[in-house]
Order: sequence, then structure tokens, then C-alpha cells
Amino acid sequence: MTQTEATTIFEEEILNGLKARNKFLSSKYFYDARGDELFQQIMKLDEYYLTRKEHEIFTTHKEAILQSIYDGETFRIIELGAGDGSKTKILLKHFLKQGIDFTYTPVDISGNVLEILETNLKAEMPDLKMESFQGDYFDALAQISTNPEKDVVFFLGSTIGNFTEEEAIGFMSKLRGFLKPSDMLFLGVDLKKDPSIILNAYNDHEGVTKEFNLNLLDRINDELEANFERDQFQHYPYYNPHTGECRSYLISKVEQEVVVAGEKIHFRAWEAIFMEISKKYDAVQLEELAEKSGFKPLNGFHDQESWFADILWEKEK
Ligand code: AVJ
Repeated sequence: MTQTEATTIFEEEILNGLKARNKFLSSKYFYDARGDELFQQIMKLDEYYLTRKEHEIFTTHKEAILQSIYDGETFRIIELGAGDGSKTKILLKHFLKQGIDFTYTPVDISGNVLEILETNLKAEMPDLKMESFQGDYFDALAQISTNPEKDVVFFLGSTIGNFTEEEAIGFMSKLRGFLKPSDMLFLGVDLKKDPSIILNAYNDHEGVTKEFNLNLLDRINDELEANFERDQFQHYPYYNPHTGECRSYLISKVEQEVVVAGEKIHFRAWEAIFMEISKKYDAVQLEELAEKSGFKPLNGFHDQESWFADILWEKEK
């Protein structure tokens, strides 16, 4: 995809969302340079427990995770959306220390992210066999999964939470289609818990999460010649304990008109833009997700409080 094509798709998707009856923007567009920076800040917030919990799981269960994955044959870890690799590193280091033969293939849309990751990991683990792939997840899987060794796809950090249940089933089923029998999926999911803990994770008192949402309006202003006024919007997350969905909205505090890429977008007072879903699962929902997308649950690893889980599935034969 060229830069111009990417810009056109961005413009189309943004306008499509803003012209919908229930306005929406896609959280996949949160991550420009400023968005990446804000997400780094979010991961350090007291209220945002997810990253720390997954870190704890890897530290505590690295050997059990290895035993569940490794059958004596060489394998390949394909990590979708590798980011800075700070959590995965714990496992990679442990696997190397145990003398395991494996290859690490981080996949990311951003070449920049991959370059930094590669430099850092190579410096810390000179013996790591690393073959990065820049691009779309499914393009990567289509190319890589033709290799003969066992693939273990890592999809960590509750990224799956950005999908509704239906979207998650669609994504997992499609992913399954690229796997060979006995290939595995290692999935990081946030679990249902005291609703106030969940809500606070998306409503931090420093307002970083609010900033993270408002940043997309700034991005649209910069890239699509728009004139959103961030002060006219209120950040409103809410958690539905039934579905496990935490949804974030930006709500127009007044009636107003915003121009985006030459088009006039009208907001009624208190009209909302749906920004992001961060879905939480329980054991039954996870079993259903596995079954509906064609996977067999093998093992699950939890933190002390069972707030977060990293689960291992195998492609159902
Ligand atoms: C990166 C999708 C896991 O939903 O918890 C953090 C993004 N949004 N705070 C999440 C996010 C608001 C995060 N994920």
C-alpha cells in the first residue's frame, strides 16, 4: 500500500464513521506517534493493571509455558503486533537459557517499531534467531506459515479485546485458516472482575486515557484538515458487566458543526462518537470463542488474582 492509498482509506473510514447514524471512529487509528507515546504512558498508570498482570504471568509461569509449547522439535513464534516486546522478552530469554531451538518472528505494521525492537533484542540476546515481518497480520501468516516447523502465534496484551465477540470469532477463524495441524495460538485476554477496577483502567485520574482518545481528533485535524475542538468533547467510558465490554465514547457537549476533509459533520448536543471497545472475558466465553473459531484449549496461565490470562490453544484437527 502506498502512502496516498493509506491516506485515502483513512479519510474514507473516518468520514464513514462520522456520517453514520451512530457515529464511530476506529481505535486502530489511535496509534500515530503521539498515540504510541500515550499508550506507553497508559501502561505505566496505577489503574491500568493489564500490562503488569501479563508481565507477572510470564515471570511466574515461563517454564510451564515452555513445557506446554515445546515437544522437542524446533518451532517458530509469530508475534502479531509485537510493539516494544518488553513482555515477550521474558519468555524469549527463558527459552534461550534452556537451550531451546526456535525462531522469533515479530509482525508489525510499523517498520519503525520493528527496527527498534530488533536492535534492542539483538543487543540483549545475541543468540536469538529473529526474522521480522513488516506488514499486515494475515499477509505475514500467509507467507510464514508455509514453513515446515510448528508455528505458535502470539497475540498478547488483550489486543483481542478491541473486537466484539462476533469480530473476535471472525478474526480467530481466519487466523486458524493459515495454521497447520498442531500449530498453536497463545492469546492474552483480560478477564471479568470487579467492574469498578475495569472502569478505572479506562478512566484514570490523570486523564491520560482521555488524552489518548482526544488524540484521534487531533490526528484527524492534522491529516484531514478538520477543525475538531477537543474542549467541546467529553471522554466517557462505561463497562457492561453482562457482555464484558468496556466501551469508550467522546461526547459532544454542545450542538456544533465540524468540517472534516471538506465535509460538514453535525453534532447534536450530547451526541456520542463510539471510540473503542475493550472486551473482558470469563472462562465460559473463552471456551465458546475457542469452539466457534475451531481451536482446542490446551492450557491457561493466570496471575495471582486471576485478573488476566494467557491461554494456549491448538488448531482443532
Ligand atoms: C492495547 C487494546 C489492549 O483496550 O486495554 C488502553 C488499549 N485503550 N487504554 C486496551 C487501551 C485505552 C488497550 N489495548
